[in-house]
Amino acid sequence: MNAIVIFFSHAGDNYAVGNIEVGNTKIVAEYISEITGADQFEIVTHKYDGMAYNPLIKLAKEEAQNGELPPYEGEVPNLSKYDVIFIGGPIWWGTYPQVMFTLFKDINLDGKTVIPFTTHEGSGLANCVSDVKKAFPKATVKHEFSIYGHEVRTGRAKVEKWLKSIAQE
Ligand SMILES: Cc1cc2nc3c(=O)[nH]c(=O)nc-3n(C[C@H](O)[C@H](O)[C@H](O)COP(=O)(O)O)c2cc1C
Repeated sequence: MNAIVIFFSHAGDNYAVGNIEVGNTKIVAEYISEITGADQFEIVTHKYDGMAYNPLIKLAKEEAQNGELPPYEGEVPNLSKYDVIFIGGPIWWGTYPQVMFTLFKDINLDGKTVIPFTTHEGSGLANCVSDVKKAFPKATVKHEFSIYGHEVRTGRAKVEKWLKSIAQE
């Protein structure tokens, strides 16, 4: 399969894992690429750089409540050559961070297979699957996966098991 992982991940001060150099979702994205050979596009914004956990929580809540669409850096690659698009991010207040929705507006995934995944601290997939379906009504959204953020560093086998189950279909 020709696949790409599009993801957002916030390094720095975070719940349950302390101050991390590499974000939890980024680690899962790396596993996916190592195991499947998928390309990657990381959604980057500098808006949250260096923020402590509590102010970040507050800001993210406001953004979600107001439906803000913060800009991201760089340009999304041409997605026409990909059949499978993994979309991953942390749960922030019940869904993906708002900056991911900014990107969703810029891409067309009609006819693609879209595989959402999340890292979280209790909410699982929360509203991500329905939000992805809403953003991409003409895509086939399936095979979703979630894993605790504090589990990812020791959780490669879980990711591998999920990917194997997809490959067997
Ligand atoms: C602003 C913010 C909001 C969060 N909201 C939730 C939430 O609603 N539910 C949940 O289970 N975890 C929540 N978390 C925890 C993250 O989803 C979890 O730590 C995730 O693994 C972070 O991934 P990252 O390191 O790739 O950014 C939140 C974390 C932050 C920073």
